[in-house]
This record gives sequence, structure tokens and C-alpha cells, in this order.
Amino acid sequence: MNTPSATALAHPNIAFIKYWGNRDNTLRLPVNGSISMNLDGLFTRTTVTFNSSKQDSLMINEHPVIGKGLERVSYILDLVRQMANINERAEVSSSNNFPAGAGIASSAAAFAALALASSRAAGLTLSEGQLSRLARRGSGSASRSIPGGFVEWQMGTSDDDSVAVSIASPEHWALADCVAIVNASHKKTGSTEGHAIAGTSPLQNARVADTPRRLDICRTAILNKDFDTFANIIEHDSDIMHSVMMTSNPPLMYWQAATVGIFHAVREWRASGLPVGYTVDAGANVHVICLAEYAKETEKRLRELSGVSDVLVAGVGGAAQG
Ligand code: DP6
Repeated sequence: MNTPSATALAHPNIAFIKYWGNRDNTLRLPVNGSISMNLDGLFTRTTVTFNSSKQDSLMINEHPVIGKGLERVSYILDLVRQMANINERAEVSSSNNFPAGAGIASSAAAFAALALASSRAAGLTLSEGQLSRLARRGSGSASRSIPGGFVEWQMGTSDDDSVAVSIASPEHWALADCVAIVNASHKKTGSTEGHAIAGTSPLQNARVADTPRRLDICRTAILNKDFDTFANIIEHDSDIMHSVMMTSNPPLMYWQAATVGIFHAVREWRASGLPVGYTVDAGANVHVICLAEYAKETEKRLRELSGVSDVLVAGVGGAAQG
């Protein structure tokens, strides 16, 4: 091994056409393709050092992590050790510059940074596609945090071709994500458990069958910078995913009253000329996507809504960097 240590940085992403449900939970092969944008200014930075210790270790924001969190990281390290043909254990140290519970999934940035840092530390030089596939094994949405800008994860036919690619650079379209933080009192069900029960909803088959149509509309709207079509399709896609969540067994209801309040406000604002649209992941917080020049106005209006405790603003982010 030439370099036993490497550091990498990756951005989280927000999905416009959502990933919900796997056809293979271990390989994280999704039932449908998805489209997202990386979030600039927010990142996870991870350092991986292979050494002579007996076990892998993990620190997140300076706190040691054991159990399930460490197992998930070791699973990726095992794949890297196999590829590099090494046996050394690793020390992994990771920090996020965005607050936990800010409504931004940290697993996407975390596993993208881990895939890049661990493969480099093991002496491997992987292609963007190989890195995206490796990150996918840790968290599906992490596959989309490897390439830069606007990204499409192609569902593929197998582990080899289920990979994310950039469809437009960060400079292509100046969008902003204004994340309205809505305080949720109860503990939510995580995405991994959610994916596993997606198929119990009678609506999931219809959602999946219709996904190529939504992907086409969204991709074309991004390429043409057609905001109105874009806003309508991301809201539609988010609503469809939440319909599946609400009708699965057990049912997942992520929305709070304030979440729905923001939906109504965003639609009123758009009808009166403000270029905004909403999308929601597996939580109560609302990602309000707007043309970047309207981010200040959007943030101001969101802060005035009842139930909104904070607003975070991010532009379009680049690729994971080593
Ligand atoms: C609702 O990628 O977090 O945010 O693969 O189990 O880690 P795991 O799931 P994850 O699922 C993301 C679900 C989503 C939609 C999306 O980001 O596409």
C-alpha cells in the first residue's frame, strides 16, 4: 500500500425524483431511477487510515460510534479490502458541517466521502462509476453524491450498471434549496426500514411503473431550465412517494401540520409569480427549491410561517473530492 491514509469531502443531495424501495436490499439495487442535485456549502469530510489495529473504528463529529453505524462502515471497508487485496483494519473519522436533525440526510454525503477516502487510502484509483457503485452499497442516495451538479442514478440491471451520472454541471442552472426546518417530536423511521416495506403499499407498483415518465419530464425540465414544469414534477413526485409511505404496512406518516402548511404557501407563492417548488424526504422538513436569485425572498417568507423553526439555504454543489 502506498498511501495508508486519505481524506475526502462530499456534499449531501436532495432528490427531485425519489428513490423509494429496492429490488435487492443488500446490493441496494433500486426499483426505480432517481434524479437529484448536490447541495453546495454543506459537506461531510472523512479521513480513513489503514493501520495495524484489530478492529475498524469510527468517530463521527468527534464521538465514537459502535454497533450498527460501525457495521455499516465496515461493510464498505470490507468491499474496499477485497478490491485492494489487503487485510488492515481502518480508523475512520468523519465530520459534518451541517447540524444533525437539520432535515438533510447525512448518509448520502457520509458514504460518498467514505467510498472515496477508503479506496484512496487502500491505494486504489477508482473511476467515478466505480465510486458511485461503492457508495451505493453503503446508502443508495450516496451513489448520487459522487458526481457533481445535477445527477441521475440509473437503476441499471445489476450491481455493475446501477450507477449515478452527472446530467448537468453545477453551473448549468442557478437553483437554491431553502430547507424549512419543522420540529418533529417523534422519532422517525429511517430510510433503510422504509425501503424494506415500500412494496407493502398497493400504490408502490403504480409509482414504479410511472417513474420513467416522471424522470423524462424532470430531466428535460432541468436541461431546458424550465422552472414551472420542474416545480410541478418535483411536487408531484414527492407527493406520490409520500402516498406510498402513508399506505405501507406499517404506515409511515412523516408530515407534520406545518409541513402541509408550507405546501399550501409554496403553491400560492408560485401562482403569484415566485419561482418555488417543494419536495420532502423521509422527514417533516420541507426542501423549497427556487431560482437562486429568489433565495433571500423565499427564506424570508418561510421564516414567517408558523411551525418553521429555521431555514438553511444551499446552492448547487460539485462532485465528491479527494
Ligand atoms: C426519501 O439513500 O437514505 O431520501 O439506502 O437505506 O441509506 P439507504 O436509504 P437512503 O434513501 C433515501 C430516500 C429518500 C429519497 C431519495 O433521496 O431519493
